Amino acid sequence: MKRKDLLGIKELSKSELNEILTVARDMRDAIDSGEKLTTMRGKSVMTLFYENSTRTRNSFDAAAKNLGASTGSISVATSSVQKGESLIDTGKTLNALKTDVIILRHPVGGAPRLLAENVSASVINAGDGFNEHPTQALLDVMTALRHFPSLAGVKTVIVGDIKHSRVARSDIAAFTKLGAEVTVCAPYTLLPSGVDGLGASVETDLDRALDGANIIMPLRIQFERMDQAYFSSREEYREYYGITQKRLSSCASDYIVMHPAPINREAEIDGDVADGRRSVIEEQVTNGVAVRMAVLQLLTNRGE
Ligand code: CP
Repeated sequence: MKRKDLLGIKELSKSELNEILTVARDMRDAIDSGEKLTTMRGKSVMTLFYENSTRTRNSFDAAAKNLGASTGSISVATSSVQKGESLIDTGKTLNALKTDVIILRHPVGGAPRLLAENVSASVINAGDGFNEHPTQALLDVMTALRHFPSLAGVKTVIVGDIKHSRVARSDIAAFTKLGAEVTVCAPYTLLPSGVDGLGASVETDLDRALDGANIIMPLRIQFERMDQAYFSSREEYREYYGITQKRLSSCASDYIVMHPAPINREAEIDGDVADGRRSVIEEQVTNGVAVRMAVLQLLTNRGE
């Protein structure tokens, strides 16, 4: 891979996607065997998160350390951002500190691109507004490919708050590039305008969407991004769009349940489904470290 930055899935070619997945599989083997790699020794990785995170921030940190890099973290709440420092000035400071990779999560779509245009360090988008979350999509397709030999024709249903979801946008791009048939399912109020152009089929009836599905991916309702009510109650939402064990009976015999997490139990997914034998939610987290190792290695060893 020749690119300096990873800003989104939409701009990746299918061959770049497959290259990352091939390296990620090797990284997963290294994680499982406990092998320590040194391909990023002497390099530094900094996380810069303007929004909360458990999985993404910590798995990038683990990934960088697994490759021998030094790591640091800027907590926006206690940084000079609170004194009015701009994103670009914060980025230039990290550049002057000779940071090799900046991992940015930001509430505004497009912020990672702006930063990438203003620093020589590689920039990885760790989630920007409603736009993209590319490493989440990479770990999702990696996980799916551990359960299905190919994604060609695999019926993938993404359920819930599509409107506010960067994961949905990146996942639609990644799964369809690899040949999956993606359906998004939500009440009309949680479908974004222009949903027909995202590359997925659209369904508002969950039971119709789940019929014959191979991959079911409920999304968290992002209350923190909502400026109005999109449905009348959590109970009503669960009744029509919650993933319950009973609802899954019409799925294909080989179905798996994914979730980018964090999950809200008894809202978009029941606890017994999240903890059940078809759930791959914890496997997704481990694969997240592998995928992030692959991305870090490819961006910092360009053309080598
Ligand atoms: N899936 C995801 O991005 O989780 P975090 O918000 O915990 O990083």
